[in-house]
Amino acid sequence: MTTKDDIQLNRGLQGVYFDRTETTFIDGKEGILEYRGYSIHELAKHSNFEETSYLLLYGALPTQAQLKEFEAELKASRNLPEQVLDVIEIVKDSHPMDVLRTAVSTLASFDPDRSDNSPEGTFRKGVRLTSQFATIVMAHHRIRRGKDPIAPSDSLSHAANFLYMLEGKVPTPETAELMDRDFVIHADHGSNASAFTARVVASTNADLHGAVTAGIAALSGPSHGGAAENVMQMAQEIGEPENAAQYVKNLLAAKERVMGFGHRVYKAEDPRARHLREGVRKLSEEKGEPKWYAILEAVVEEMKPYARRGIHVNVDFFAGVVYHLNGIPQDLFVPIFAVGRVPGWTIQVVEQYRHNILIRPLLVYTGTHDRPYVPIAERG
Ligand code: ACO
Repeated sequence: MTTKDDIQLNRGLQGVYFDRTETTFIDGKEGILEYRGYSIHELAKHSNFEETSYLLLYGALPTQAQLKEFEAELKASRNLPEQVLDVIEIVKDSHPMDVLRTAVSTLASFDPDRSDNSPEGTFRKGVRLTSQFATIVMAHHRIRRGKDPIAPSDSLSHAANFLYMLEGKVPTPETAELMDRDFVIHADHGSNASAFTARVVASTNADLHGAVTAGIAALSGPSHGGAAENVMQMAQEIGEPENAAQYVKNLLAAKERVMGFGHRVYKAEDPRARHLREGVRKLSEEKGEPKWYAILEAVVEEMKPYARRGIHVNVDFFAGVVYHLNGIPQDLFVPIFAVGRVPGWTIQVVEQYRHNILIRPLLVYTGTHDRPYVPIAERG
């Protein structure tokens, strides 16, 4: 019998490698993130969400013709089946992440490739879901306020169309670009909790809709996707930059966590964070609300001593304020993360199928043994 002493227990699977990937490279110590060998900094500066999604899915940057075809494929999938809009109407009072999860699960019934788990079928489903996620999030937000959803626009990019579906206003190029950058930096991130969940589901040969639905559930928790929402709440509670230092001190004295700081993998600054930082500064000035940027920077200043312990800002720290300044309510922040993450979940599911092995780890049993069964009438 295996004894407890023979077992190497890795709670939370910390530091455990469970498979190989050709998609995303992360060096947490050095703060490096690459998609398919391209630095996130290059992609955030020069690429866009459509091109980056193509890169993640198919492994290479597209030619002009390939990108045009891919963009057309994405645009062709922006509308939702009427039945899915009906389901959204029924569950409209739930949290947007719950609505997204329900709507994505429902979409499986209407997908032409629903029984096709080949890589080709899964890619087609993943491309459709990438567009459908954006429409679900905005359609639900309209429906819950008693408004009709805004029909997606074929003439806009994925990011600009996403913002357009909020109120029917075409965003400025700068605003659309910042949203686009946000989607690029969220597109994949190795075996984070939601991608791992998606892989576990795929490892049973279940389909992409099932894997992605489970991924949405995993993403919804505050330790993963929910932090952007909490950062905005924190900024609002702080209220003014001069209150930030005391607020952070109180939080840490109470052994609570400062949201938007710390990461399981990054012990240096999360390389994605800087790509929203400057955008937040500019946007908060443009919108006449510079205090949000000032509050965030004051929190960063107060957290400086924690850098020695490997606790730095993560991607969610600046994201919440970007969304807030775009007029997006806080409960849509995690769904936005999900909108950007669909290409990542898709390619990880395809990788899982390609070299599949059932993911089935073990638990160390710490309960008792050999208990005699007592009939119910004799239990005290
Ligand atoms: N504020 C203050 N202290 C922190 C923070 C934080 N944000 N994060 C970690 N620490 C401290 C912990 O208290 C702990 O201290 P201790 O050793 O004295 O007990 C130590 O750092 C290690 O923390 P763990 O929770 O063990 O680290 P883990 O890798 O499990 O946690 C996590 C990572 C969950 C992200 C954590 O840093 C956290 O809760 N951060 C706040 C929430 C957040 O921003 N989440 C978004 C993550 S990024 C993403 O999903 C896109």
